[in-house]
Amino acid sequence: MTVITIEQAGKYEGQDVTIRGWLYNLRESGKLVFPIFRDGTGIIQGVCALKENPEAFAALKGLTQESSVIVTGKIRAEQRAPGGYELGVSRIQVVQKVPESTPFPIQLKEHGVDFLLDHRHLWMRTPRQAAILRIRAEAERAAREFMDSQGYTLTDAPIFTPAACEGTSTLFEVNYIDNEKAYLTQSGQLYIEATAMALGKVYTFGPTFRAEKSKTRRHLTEFWMLEPEAAYVELDEAMTLGEGLVSAIVQSALKNKARELETLKRDATKLQNVKPPFPRISYEDAIKVLQKHGNPAKFGDDIGGDEETIISNEFDRPVLVHRYPAAIKAFYMQPDAERPDLALAFDMLAPEGYGEIIGGSQRIHDYDLLVKRLREHNLPEDAFRWYLDLRRYGSVPHSGFGMGLERTVAWICGAEHIREVIPFPRTLYRVYP
Ligand code: 4AD
Ligand code: MG
Repeated sequence: MTVITIEQAGKYEGQDVTIRGWLYNLRESGKLVFPIFRDGTGIIQGVCALKENPEAFAALKGLTQESSVIVTGKIRAEQRAPGGYELGVSRIQVVQKVPESTPFPIQLKEHGVDFLLDHRHLWMRTPRQAAILRIRAEAERAAREFMDSQGYTLTDAPIFTPAACEGTSTLFEVNYIDNEKAYLTQSGQLYIEATAMALGKVYTFGPTFRAEKSKTRRHLTEFWMLEPEAAYVELDEAMTLGEGLVSAIVQSALKNKARELETLKRDATKLQNVKPPFPRISYEDAIKVLQKHGNPAKFGDDIGGDEETIISNEFDRPVLVHRYPAAIKAFYMQPDAERPDLALAFDMLAPEGYGEIIGGSQRIHDYDLLVKRLREHNLPEDAFRWYLDLRRYGSVPHSGFGMGLERTVAWICGAEHIREVIPFPRTLYRVYP
């Protein structure tokens, strides 16, 4: 018998096929049973009659939710069925029956979010969660494909690091060998500045860690970041790369994951405009936008979540905000030659209230200025010796950014909280399961 996946069902109309999966739901109606099967690629409704297939009928009757099954039957077009096809079940093998005494904890009803998170290992079997994980995989694939197509080489950054990249307040300290202190990386940036000087255009894509004390819908303590870095590239070119990357990801999701976006009931028209060029406004103009809306923001203030929403609501696609006050940004950012109080930094803000999805900048390439900044930020110079070497041996202007994968995927999915878009979220009070 031909073994197929549920997403292929349409190609096998009128044929007998075998599907290997799980019982998602079961409706019984006298001498008929209507099981719904899932196999990770989709769900399909089945129908089985006592009269025609007594053995299969008996096996299905009373079968518990999430029992694993190998099921054979004929694919028929059925307009009313989800997906447009149904399976006329003729044979079924129950691989494991979920005991009636310990039913599957996630019922087809609303559950509280803590309950769902405690059962994340099972919750991910539901169609919405599976669709989100597929869109995440597509985003990762499209992001890599785009970076590679632009001539960037993947160079992986370490996870154990001797020092902070994004400020010391959110470092996770680990006890390294023989009681030496190390930290989980907050960003691979400093390391790919080194690989960029070796290879020209590079990126890293991996998990990063921040002991975020904020309990918001945009913060995880472990999240994935894609970070490009390029020698001889200045601020504007880095912003152009960022808009190209985000557009490529969104357009691939629309093209290749339309069914999943439909499962999420995501309004895809809100994503169709996500194509270059994105609007660009300076931090100072962003402050004016805020003031126009009655927000008390003034020069020198950080732009928080609510402010980001006000700014991004002005546009139909992500907006690039550039040239922030140097005083509120990281130690490594190159000052603007004409306005040294401004850093050549940029953030990309996603629409619909999703806020900052990219943060980046041009980097300081002058040795003396970098030493001065390290001191001003009270950073341990010794741990940065190697980083300073990059300014000693053939230093050049260079730029890069970090794109938060979960923030980007949450926006594409229209997910309420970013904890839904990573298989096992780590947040302020959660490292289980
Ligand atoms: O703006 P951030 O802190 O920038 C950096 O780490 C730079 N070193 C990157 C670089 O230039 N190579 O973080 C970059 C992005 C943010 O825009 C956001 O999308 C995401 O990482 N991010 C988080 N995502 C989830 N949870 C958190 N706690 C996050 N913190 C940052
Ligand atoms: Mg940032």
